[in-house]
Amino acid sequence: MRIANSSVLRIFETLRSVVRFKPIERDPVERRLSRAASVEDLRRIARRRLPGGVFDYIDGGAEDERTLVANQNAFANVTFNPRVLRGIGAVDITSTLLGQPLSYPLVLAPTGFTRIADPAGELAVARSANRAGLSYTLSTLGTRSIEEVRAVSDGRLWFQVYAWRDRGLVKDMIDRAFGANYEALVLTVDTPVFGRRERDVRRGFSLPPSIGPGTILDGALHPAWTWAFVTSEPIRFANVLGREVGDGASPVSLADYVNQQFEPALSWDDIDWLRSIWDRPIVIKGIQSVEDAVRAADSGVEAIALSNHGGRQLDGAPSPFNLVAPAADALEGRIEIICDGGVRRGSDIVKAVAAGATACMAGRAYLYGLGAAGERGVDRVLAWFAADMQRTMSLIGAGSIDDLDRSFLQQTTTRT
Ligand SMILES: Cc1cc2nc3c(=O)[nH]c(=O)nc-3n(C[C@H](O)[C@H](O)[C@H](O)COP(=O)(O)O)c2cc1C
Repeated sequence: MRIANSSVLRIFETLRSVVRFKPIERDPVERRLSRAASVEDLRRIARRRLPGGVFDYIDGGAEDERTLVANQNAFANVTFNPRVLRGIGAVDITSTLLGQPLSYPLVLAPTGFTRIADPAGELAVARSANRAGLSYTLSTLGTRSIEEVRAVSDGRLWFQVYAWRDRGLVKDMIDRAFGANYEALVLTVDTPVFGRRERDVRRGFSLPPSIGPGTILDGALHPAWTWAFVTSEPIRFANVLGREVGDGASPVSLADYVNQQFEPALSWDDIDWLRSIWDRPIVIKGIQSVEDAVRAADSGVEAIALSNHGGRQLDGAPSPFNLVAPAADALEGRIEIICDGGVRRGSDIVKAVAAGATACMAGRAYLYGLGAAGERGVDRVLAWFAADMQRTMSLIGAGSIDDLDRSFLQQTTTRT
């Protein structure tokens, strides 16, 4: 009997030394975040939390979504050529863009209607970017105004412009961005007409989401989002509030809105016009060929974003990452190159910089974080990117951003 007792005691002691109960996390946001280890995990959580139409608006792309998929595959198709025993201790991921510092080479891309993912919307993203030491780009179609965003961030802010038909309206917004000390203008040029986003077409998706039998059911199945949506201030195109062009006070299909309001016949001459009203840096976003990259440098802008709008415009457009090396070769350092599209990990940023980009832009990655866990979800994504970069550069033997070059990359398979 005594032997049995001591055996039980021993088993108990052994169990006590190996069993660890995690303290119960009471904060639901932290609980959700504790289950996520990657942007893809946050995407899955956002998919569960957001109504289908809202998730698809964020997640979807144009037509067959080949370009959407190819943007990510372009990174997957290139592996590293790691170097070892190089005596590299601490890795420095800080960099500069447009002559100003970034804590690592990333700019948060403009996304229209951000408050649809979470009521804190653009304010949350701008605060998070500022904390992380990164630039944030506010979209023309933002749901917080130029001034509201500046009020929550004293960091680097860029303003994205679409060429509205009403040039007075564009000039007015640009003057406001100047007055609010935005550092750069980002002119998006890949949207002469709206891409056919078939998930939105199928769902009859409008902004703001209209209420019908389908959306009521979808809303009921996603009560947390629905409660936040109906109890927070109505979502509007905050930069054109009350203007004749329409501020989204009544539901409108984004395709109809863009096709009615945006100038389809934008040309290189318009860059001169932009320059005449803005004397800070200009970035042309939506360059999709080496020829246009060179043409952009000739036009006198400071940077380009190689971008296909995250696969939301032309299905069949080349992947930005694949254009980086040829564009860098053709530009020979005349202007800076931003690689925009498909970034889901810090290692993607390392690859883009090694190929010849100065920095990357990312859109969906932070939107998944915002949709999954609000501002803390965005913080998490930006912290992961920094940690990924540190780890990846350490593993490939690169001590700083200046060390990165194409000798660290090799082409492997070609999944498109
Ligand atoms: C929901 C959503 C809204 C977007 N809205 C805009 C916009 O208003 N203006 C713009 O220039 N680009 C817009 N984009 C494109 C992004 O700026 C960026 O080019 C794209 O997200 C990059 O691809 P990624 O999502 O794979 O990072 C949007 C993208 C998404 C996902």
